[in-house]
Amino acid sequence: MSDTKALSNLAMDAVKAAEAAARAAYDWIGRGEKESADQAAVDALRTGLNAMAMKGRIVIGEGERDEAPMLYIGEEVGTGEGPEIDIALDPLEGTSLTAKNMPNALAVLSLSLRGGLLHAPDTYMDKIAVGPGLPAGVIDLDAKPEDNVIALAKAKEVDPSEITVCILERPRHQYIVDGVKSVGGRVRMIPDGDVAGAMGAAGLGTNVDMYIGQGGAPEGVLAASALRSIGGQMQARLVFRNDDERARAERVGVKEFDRKYDLSELAASHCLFVATGVTDGDLVTGVRKSGGVVSTETLVLDSADHSIRRIRTDLPL
Ligand code: FBP
Repeated sequence: MSDTKALSNLAMDAVKAAEAAARAAYDWIGRGEKESADQAAVDALRTGLNAMAMKGRIVIGEGERDEAPMLYIGEEVGTGEGPEIDIALDPLEGTSLTAKNMPNALAVLSLSLRGGLLHAPDTYMDKIAVGPGLPAGVIDLDAKPEDNVIALAKAKEVDPSEITVCILERPRHQYIVDGVKSVGGRVRMIPDGDVAGAMGAAGLGTNVDMYIGQGGAPEGVLAASALRSIGGQMQARLVFRNDDERARAERVGVKEFDRKYDLSELAASHCLFVATGVTDGDLVTGVRKSGGVVSTETLVLDSADHSIRRIRTDLPL
């Protein structure tokens, strides 16, 4: 069996692991305790991953070994038999969204063949993403937001006023909001959850044309692995606020601190992206419990055949 096929064959077990994480986080929705919600998702995801027939290695996880007792970067998961797999994960993408019972919290993981995902530290990342079917190089991370809007509008043969940019609502992003508005574009502000935000730019979930902003580096790699399947362009650069963050980057093998990564470097080979809804969201519905059944919806993107699947599971309580 080819490595690619072996990876695709792990899809159902990866779905079960993400579903378990989402169900565990469900108990903490709307309770104002984001750490407890995260911990519940971590525990459940780890149990699920350890049941999978693979030699798994966490490359994007909950942090470094000394600060994250579980799912830390470098942790080996799986039964130890089967293909060698690198794993990026965010057991609960949107801890605050979950604590506040707001839309778009997800349990997310991406599986790739060994070496297929950028080993990013848990720092910030500047990101820009657009969907498929556009000329190569239409966006530039180093260009002003307004210039990216104009370039994208030209490529789409529309007026800049018809371009919508998804942006995380943060004071640091005011220049992006101002830039987009200065050329007549629209913004779609999101409170958290830029994995879904970037995927919206590629036509999944929301109807936005571009994602621009600074968010977590792990979330950037996860978004890139999704874009690898659904198509699109993405550029990103790690952002370091101090020497400790640079040291973290060095520890995971980053050599060029200023490097501008493109999609093919963020997610270099075949990826299987899996996201289960915790709260209802743009990509999938959240966990529901009724009539003695707990229901989940999971999005599965397989870059091997560019398939998009939505799996609805009803499990007796
Ligand atoms: P959590 O799941 O850790 O709450 O992260 C949510 C998130 O909004 C990410 O989607 C995003 O990349 C990051 O936080 C942005 O970080 P910050 O809130 O520090 O601006």
